[in-house]
Amino acid sequence: MCVLTIGIDVGTSAVKLIVMNEMGEVLRTVSRDYPLYLFNEGWSEQAPEDWWEATACALRELTTEYKDIAAVSFSGQMHGLVALDGDGNVLRRAILWNDQRTQAECDYLNNTVGRDVLLSNAANIALTGFTLPKILWMKNNEPELYEKIAMVMLPKDYIAYKLTGIAATDYSDASGTLLLDVKNQDWSDKMLSIAGLTRAQVPKLFKSYEAVGNVSGDSAEETGLPASVKVVIGGGDQAVGAIGTGTVEEGTCSVSLGTSGVLFVAMNDFAVDTSPAAIHAFCHATGRYHMMGVTLAAAGSSKWWVEQILDTADYSAEQKDITELGKNKVYYLPYLSGERTPHNNPLARGAFVGMGMGTTRAEMTQAMFEGVAFSLRDILTRIRALGKEISAARIIGGGAKSPLWCQIVADVLNVKVQKIHSGEGPALGAAILAMVGTGAYATVEEACAKIIKTTETYTPNVQAAAGYDKHYQIYTHLYGALKETYTKISEV
Ligand code: XUL
Repeated sequence: MCVLTIGIDVGTSAVKLIVMNEMGEVLRTVSRDYPLYLFNEGWSEQAPEDWWEATACALRELTTEYKDIAAVSFSGQMHGLVALDGDGNVLRRAILWNDQRTQAECDYLNNTVGRDVLLSNAANIALTGFTLPKILWMKNNEPELYEKIAMVMLPKDYIAYKLTGIAATDYSDASGTLLLDVKNQDWSDKMLSIAGLTRAQVPKLFKSYEAVGNVSGDSAEETGLPASVKVVIGGGDQAVGAIGTGTVEEGTCSVSLGTSGVLFVAMNDFAVDTSPAAIHAFCHATGRYHMMGVTLAAAGSSKWWVEQILDTADYSAEQKDITELGKNKVYYLPYLSGERTPHNNPLARGAFVGMGMGTTRAEMTQAMFEGVAFSLRDILTRIRALGKEISAARIIGGGAKSPLWCQIVADVLNVKVQKIHSGEGPALGAAILAMVGTGAYATVEEACAKIIKTTETYTPNVQAAAGYDKHYQIYTHLYGALKETYTKISEV
């Protein structure tokens, strides 16, 4: 009998759902947008009720056609703070992963509580995007609301909660809260006490491929899903996206060129980065571990440059004159949204450096692609310094549609870059986790081995890679040269 699952990717611009069969074939895709509130220079919020309305509506559309869904699961934008009162109502709009308002709380956590305490209890230091600083921000700025918090959860957990009535989360997503003891895969009592929360105020933890319950009566009516459907908790979008590329075995690597860019390495054993670069040490959705670094404007840089600055939507036309790799003397720093890895500086900003009177539009475009690739190399360099050998990476995300950008990434990182048969990434990973939850596959690894296939391979060009080695050395100097200026710019 054919087993069908739905993967639900609760993203920042939209929720995307796919229906998949046990062979991994995607039978149908539906997407629904919702508003994103950007204000106050760096604040970023969404209404959890909007996620639910969009998801329920998309599920209704799918369930009119597919009656026998066995399970659903999730990939969710990470770190967002969803705070509920005792009746399960949302207390305020969710504060999202890319919100930068919590510098004071991060300074308190990193400097007063101290990095050692954070690293030994949560395996990570405080970054403005993470959830704990947002909880402290509520405590400091909205004390009446903070006092009413009965439960905090992450974006995808809210959808699982609406479907089942159960407050649940998984280890991969919980890793990005700074409340999880990542190494021992349990909530950290020390970190909870810093947040002023108890275990009763955080969801029960599950493996990403475990069912937390079934669809409740009300939500069965709202979504068209039968009450027999299993709700499998899923994980954070990076870990689940990695499932969607088959990045599950020790030392395998994936690169995502989405709005943000991520370099992700799967690991069997726990490890922690104590350097200021703060490579994230998180649980993987396989049940094991991973490390990753995040550059905040990857495809976000190309969208900004091509659509906002060059004022065109013709991405291919802008790339056709770029033929020589490894020789460009124009540099671009992709810090349009501040930067996470390796600088952890919300005040950092984008820069082009090195232009002359003869510099062309194509060289600027090329510099933009290269700057993002250099920033991924910053992450790879740190992960290599922790003893991981990486020789290949699987690439996904909107930016991976450009063969030129894939080649630049291969040359700059000097690793073989492989595309995979499906661009669905996180939604596919979620559908795979749901499939494992039905028992159709015994493990996530087994499902990935069956479902994920590689397609084009981009092999590093020896000369271009040697050229990029030299240019990368210059690139790494630029942030230091501008760091103080970024602070000054923020003060005027
Ligand atoms: C991961 C991260 C983003 C968000 C939004 O740490 O911040 O990937 O999950 O996609």
